[in-house]
Amino acid sequence: MKSLFLGIDVSTTGSKALLVDESGNVVGAALTEHSISTPKPLWSEQDPQEWWTASANSIRQALSQAGATGNDVKAVGLTGQMHGLVMMDEAGKVLRPAILWNDQRTAEECDDITRIVGFDKLLSICGNKALTGFTAPKILWVRKNEPEVYAKTAHILLPKDYVRYHLTGDYAVDHADGSGMILYDLKKRDWSKELLNALEIPESWLPKTYEGSEVTGVISATAAELTGLKAGTPVVGGGGDQAAQAVGVGAVTPGIVALTLGTSGVVFASTPSPLIEPEGRLHAFCHSVPGTWHFMGVMLSAAGSLRWYRDTLAPGLGYDELLAPAADVPAGSEGLLFLPYLTGERTPHPDPLARGAFVGLTVRHTKAHMTRSVIEGVSFGLRDSMELLKNAGLGEIKQVRVSGGGARSALWRQMLSDVMNTELVTVNTTEGAAFGAALLAGVGIGTWKTVQDACNATIKTLDKTSANPSTVNTYEQYYRQYTALYPALKPTFTGIAAI
Ligand code: XUL
Repeated sequence: MKSLFLGIDVSTTGSKALLVDESGNVVGAALTEHSISTPKPLWSEQDPQEWWTASANSIRQALSQAGATGNDVKAVGLTGQMHGLVMMDEAGKVLRPAILWNDQRTAEECDDITRIVGFDKLLSICGNKALTGFTAPKILWVRKNEPEVYAKTAHILLPKDYVRYHLTGDYAVDHADGSGMILYDLKKRDWSKELLNALEIPESWLPKTYEGSEVTGVISATAAELTGLKAGTPVVGGGGDQAAQAVGVGAVTPGIVALTLGTSGVVFASTPSPLIEPEGRLHAFCHSVPGTWHFMGVMLSAAGSLRWYRDTLAPGLGYDELLAPAADVPAGSEGLLFLPYLTGERTPHPDPLARGAFVGLTVRHTKAHMTRSVIEGVSFGLRDSMELLKNAGLGEIKQVRVSGGGARSALWRQMLSDVMNTELVTVNTTEGAAFGAALLAGVGIGTWKTVQDACNATIKTLDKTSANPSTVNTYEQYYRQYTALYPALKPTFTGIAAI
């Protein structure tokens, strides 16, 4: 019999099942895609049932790929897209499509929350200001706009926890994902009665809370039949995708920063205590590592900007082919700057109406300049988050571990290193959040004593990329110009939205 851990990642694009053995080898992996719906401008929704069907399908496929059975899987860990709102009635029936993390409809409700609770109080309790991406404003939006749905609501879950509900029958959430609802008391690692009372959200609707490596329930007989897992297999809390991703690359102690270049771009740092950025410019949530917290800056369109650019202006081209000519363009793209706010922004400018821009175009600029400028703009945006982290009282940043699809490009890694003037390392694990969830499952049943032990046993650093001093200087000058763009263009973004 084998001894495997299953990590399930319910992401926006699909549900992934990943089987990992005790040495950290990936022995089976499968992804089933999800559809996404944008019924109105600023809206982004998914059907929760699709997450469950996709997860069950991926689990069966991963087991068969590994030549394994349910008996071989010792524990299951869950991760997924954060902040999405699933509303269910008393019987567990879903009442409306889930409202996702990248939905931008709730600017008014964010203002309502800030007014009702007060900016300082909100920040001191949950560690964050109200942003459209988070869950609480979505609940208020449903109350205001769909009172018939609100009246039937008896349970609220986050995306991966809807899959948990189908796997185990339990309503449960881990602290990392739970704190992303901004209804948490960050210090207590549990729901804040004060916030729930102020916002008039019944506590009975919210799931029970757990640490990331704590067992929340076991696979039910029905789920066993549908997935091939064994009834009774323990399922642990897991974590929101960013916390689980950090576990999956070993960013589990202060000083090790995880930089993820996926659709969104994230700069993530563990904190030993519930630190809060005084102006709320960094998200402050619980980590999946028991008893610890983290800061993070989130850029909404990171590799997503490059994907948009490729799909729109160079359709059919592979990323390697697209990026190769950009390597010959000088740093700074000969004065062409790109603003990556294609889907609004969170860090450092929380503004659903922020928009993308090319600034500085001349007749000399070619497609290769534009390509380079796109990834430079994203790199500058990530430096914004890094600057906030450096000034947030974390102590020394000892290492930056880079991962995600965009980090496969050596050109982009060198650029990030030069723009941030920091050394970057890659790690041997490339399965990110699902891998982290599998490690948390192993910790949950005692295979590893701590999350750090699990990371030490399975994760190694690989390549190093060091900053090139002459390019650092060039980028420093362009970065200063870049940071002036958003304040200058903000009135235009607001004006365009008002037309
Ligand atoms: C984090 C966030 C995204 C989603 C989607 O705050 O909103 O990273 O979790 O992956």
